[in-house]
Amino acid sequence: MAVTIQQLTQWKEAGRSIISLTAWEYSLAQVLDLAGVDIILVGDSLAMVGLGHNSTLPVTLDEMIHHAKAVCRGVKKALVVCDLPFMSYQASITQAMEAAARVLKETDAAAIKLEGGSSRIVETVAELTAVGIPVMGHVGLTPQSFRILGYKQQGKTIENANLIIDQAIALQQAGAFAIVLEHIPRDLAATITSKLTIPTIGIGAGNKCDGQVLVTADLLGLSAKQPPFAKSYVNLRQVISDAVQEFSQEVQNKEFPQS
Ligand code: KIV
Repeated sequence: MAVTIQQLTQWKEAGRSIISLTAWEYSLAQVLDLAGVDIILVGDSLAMVGLGHNSTLPVTLDEMIHHAKAVCRGVKKALVVCDLPFMSYQASITQAMEAAARVLKETDAAAIKLEGGSSRIVETVAELTAVGIPVMGHVGLTPQSFRILGYKQQGKTIENANLIIDQAIALQQAGAFAIVLEHIPRDLAATITSKLTIPTIGIGAGNKCDGQVLVTADLLGLSAKQPPFAKSYVNLRQVISDAVQEFSQEVQNKEFPQS
């Protein structure tokens, strides 16, 4: 049975942690889905881990849709969420509606994610959910705002922590079905998680969130550079390099193909 948005809230209530990873292409998505990942996020981290950009800003809506289509072809069970990229939703509510509608019409993604918790973004989330577009929020470190925030931990002062709490509550009230909490202190994430009825999905936000997400390139050791809070469970760069060396050697030695 496919994962539903309603199930996520039930899992929060039951204390069952939600597992989320990013994907940007078909075969990776298929493996993640078969391995039992609950939410597969076509994150705009695609810009960096899949397309080689220095930040998430350059990726376009067309590129997100192209990759989301490939991911969806590989997924049977997980809930697929697709990021709206930088400046595909910030300019106006109409722009956000059009971008989200394209994602839902042109791909099989079940929901979109967008960043921020300002009153402008909260209003956008309310308008999107009012017309039946499921929205995942994202507060704390929001990489699309790195030119203002940098990549440093957010919520370290009482004022900033209170702001992030208020943003998360406002996003829930606007109809968001879950919220990513990125790079904030564990205690702040715990407070937000206890105040919300919708699930929080943490990344660099401690172990008190309702679920955890990682950029899969980091988990697999594929990223050339990764944030301090990420964890690699395997060094695929090394594994791939070793396999290429072995192939190369066998070809040089006329051992492959065998005849
Ligand atoms: O783009 C992305 O991969 C994300 C995750 C870090 C949550 O937004």
